[in-house]
Amino acid sequence: MGKVFVCDHPLIQHKLTYIRDELTTTKDFRELVDEVSTLMAYEITRDIPLETIQVKTPVAITDSKVISGRMLGLIPILRAGLGMVDGILRLVPAAKVGHIGLYRDPETLEPVEYYVKLPTDVLERELIVIDPMLATGGSANAAITALKSRGCTQMKLMCLIAAPEGIHAVQQMHPDVDIYVAAIDNYLNDHGYIIPGLGDAGDRLFGTK
Ligand code: PRP
Ligand code: URA
Repeated sequence: MGKVFVCDHPLIQHKLTYIRDELTTTKDFRELVDEVSTLMAYEITRDIPLETIQVKTPVAITDSKVISGRMLGLIPILRAGLGMVDGILRLVPAAKVGHIGLYRDPETLEPVEYYVKLPTDVLERELIVIDPMLATGGSANAAITALKSRGCTQMKLMCLIAAPEGIHAVQQMHPDVDIYVAAIDNYLNDHGYIIPGLGDAGDRLFGTK
């Protein structure tokens, strides 16, 4: 069963409150999502392996640590996942970015895939699938399945807000994938919206609707 990590740092929780607030403007919403993504990236990269190398300071030679192991790949689910990419790249600027285009059919709530473009060396990277909202879990499950069907094996899922239903769905379908969230909310309403949530993440990020 995949583990669930709630990134409950006070700065993340503070900013999330204003992300939720319906009075927050598009500009502020975008900036806050960007900032929270940077702070969450700090948590999600906590287990990156290190190796020891020698470094020559101006006065001595010493052993010191550098990152080793797989390089990272960020996989935002279009379109709302785009709002989290720059915030994560600020901490891991060498990460490559692949895109998976999915939208939820408003009637069936089933994800519909319309675009996949991945880095050429994606199989050698540890991947972080990014989407602000984990509601039914259909989109995240479809994105992870799309990656696995192309041979990808190592990935984590990073979301701002998750519904218990979405977490359960991902844990059932992809028990090897750990999930990082800033908050776990109460439930989904009849339209598949997370309650209390933040509304439609894509619309709020891009000022549509
Ligand atoms: C939203 C959100 C997730 C999905 C979550 O995207 O960004 O991708 O819904 O819902 P689920 O867990 O029930 O699949 P949406 O389909 O609205 O597309 P958008 O990002 O283009 O706005
Ligand atoms: N997608 C969103 O953008 N918001 C929700 O609450 C659920 C799915």
